[in-house]
Amino acid sequence: MHYVVRPMRLADVPQATEIDKECFPTQWPPPPYKNDLLFNRPARYLVACKEENHALPVEETEQREAPLNHFLGGVRRFFYAAEASPASQRIVGLIGFWLMAGEAHITTIGVRQAFQRQGIGELLLISTIDIALMRNAQVMTLEVRQSNSAAQALYEKYGFIKMGARRGYYTDNREDAVIMTTDTLTSALFQDQFRQLKRAHAERRGPALCQID
Ligand SMILES: CC(C)(COP(=O)(O)OP(=O)(O)OC[C@H]1O[C@@H](n2cnc3c(N)ncnc32)[C@H](O)[C@@H]1OP(=O)(O)O)[C@@H](O)C(=O)NCCC(=O)NCCS
Repeated sequence: MHYVVRPMRLADVPQATEIDKECFPTQWPPPPYKNDLLFNRPARYLVACKEENHALPVEETEQREAPLNHFLGGVRRFFYAAEASPASQRIVGLIGFWLMAGEAHITTIGVRQAFQRQGIGELLLISTIDIALMRNAQVMTLEVRQSNSAAQALYEKYGFIKMGARRGYYTDNREDAVIMTTDTLTSALFQDQFRQLKRAHAERRGPALCQID
């Protein structure tokens, strides 16, 4: 596959909103992408793009904490978000997460229906785990609908286990949420499994360009 994973930009918001509508038709409004991209420091979004021109340069795009100080990090984030996206990039999936207090909490993941079951959800999750590791997060957590067996299977494949439930968490139908969490990300077990899964994904789906570091 020829996909690029990179941080979301403001120009991507209309496509991200389309994906939200397709993947979560009963959850409206969608996440406040614009505000999050510009001002919400713990929030991160990555997009997977189908790249028509495969010769993109690898650039440093991860919205990392600036080494100098908090202020510079905010300025960098602002300018990255405002950059135009290549016109040829069709976004096929996205993932959102918060990095806070040693935890990476996945807030959303969605892949356009026509592109599901092709390893894109997995690619987005791999990229998020990579960032969580780079940013020294200790664990990853998330909530998922009790009925969403596809998403649960994806998370379980990557070592998330069910830790509890939030009763009536989803406001559209009062469905319960299952709370899932990983083992400590730095544990030998998690790291070994993650390395193997990444390798298997690259062998099965082909290499992808991840512009996240
Ligand atoms: C969940 C979702 C993001 C998965 O994305 P995807 O690109 O289709 O998933 P992948 O092709 O990368 O699959 C990776 C793994 O996830 C699991 N999986 C994905 N879809 C599945 C399905 N329909 N049934 C069972 N397992 C599934 C499998 O373990 C799969 O590994 P395998 O290929 O070795 O079997 C996608 O189904 C989606 O966008 N759903 C609607 C939005 C949603 O429910 N988001 C989750 C919110 S918590």
